[in-house]
Amino acid sequence: MKARIVGTGSYLPEQTRTNYDLEKMVDTSHDWIVARTGIEERRIADATECTSDMATIAAQRAMDMAGVTADEIDMIVLGTITGDYPWPATACIVQANLGAKNAFAYDVSAACSGFLYALSSANDFIVAGRGKRVLVIGAETLSRAVDWTDRNTCVLFGDGAGAILLEAQESDSGVLSCHLHSDGNFLELLYQPGFGAKHPVSVEGIGARLSYLKMQGNEVFKVAVRSLTEVSKEALAANGYTSADVGQFIPHQANLRILEATTKRLGLTEEQSFINVHKYGNTSGATIPIAIDEAYQQGLLKEGDLILSAAFGGGFTWGSALIRW
Ligand code: UT7
Repeated sequence: MKARIVGTGSYLPEQTRTNYDLEKMVDTSHDWIVARTGIEERRIADATECTSDMATIAAQRAMDMAGVTADEIDMIVLGTITGDYPWPATACIVQANLGAKNAFAYDVSAACSGFLYALSSANDFIVAGRGKRVLVIGAETLSRAVDWTDRNTCVLFGDGAGAILLEAQESDSGVLSCHLHSDGNFLELLYQPGFGAKHPVSVEGIGARLSYLKMQGNEVFKVAVRSLTEVSKEALAANGYTSADVGQFIPHQANLRILEATTKRLGLTEEQSFINVHKYGNTSGATIPIAIDEAYQQGLLKEGDLILSAAFGGGFTWGSALIRW
């Protein structure tokens, strides 16, 4: 029994914020951002949109592609760090929006690795025979978690959502493996200091801008390249494949330099590596399902192709998935 991808969908808000727009907000330049990150623009949710809205549209598109109705969904798992509320889970709001009355739903908090963590749970659920169809979603409204006065971080992130629909099938195609890792020792290199239980909402906390994402970018960069490379090799070795067997490498889209360094270390060609970070920036848990949907729409994913995906994010968390399309 395998969990096969039978539908993909994504949603990007209409509003584009270019590097030139950012030049008017903080001390930065289009040239610096492109040289250091490869990002040219990102999408920003409008005031009426939040994570559940984008996730619902992406999920509905994945269901439409597969021709599956809401009451046929058994489980909804959503990777996000920018849910609509601290609790309950945004996945429950998506469940209600879709009318998926037979599905149970929960969120996974693994930052930029959230989608692959969610995919791993969904795959285990299907392989164990506990259900037939699972929506796996990554959705973020990072524009509400980013400090728009901090040039170190605000130029990097954007909003969006992507989803895949997994279906249990007797097939050689589908999810072949998921490998996940964490190391909580690196927490303070990439995190949101407030307003959880440790630093609840306070006037001082608001003044210190504790509710915004904080990152020591260059430290994160080094660990990210190393971890993405290692966990990708782990996926290939576990299944007896090499880089030459990979049809498309669909990594988390954080920074073009990270992607290029990882691709090179893995011995993959440019043609094998899918990149869209220039258009959307880093949408954290949403980058991989958005990229899968775009790669599919562009005709880059053909039946039988081997798809390698890897992510790295706050926690630290990192992981990989190998999928036979
Ligand atoms: O999704 C997973 C988690 N996140 C990531 O994977 C992101 C990982 N890190 C990165 O992508 C990169 O480290 C950044 C793009 C964040 C930064 O690039 P960098 O080459 O590591 O630059 P840096 O942090 O070492 O900063 C170099 C200089 C500094 O100035 P000084 O100290 O050399 O005078 C920064 O203050 O660039 C300055 N700088 C900026 N200048 C113009 C930082 N941000 C900006 C900016 N515009 N937006």
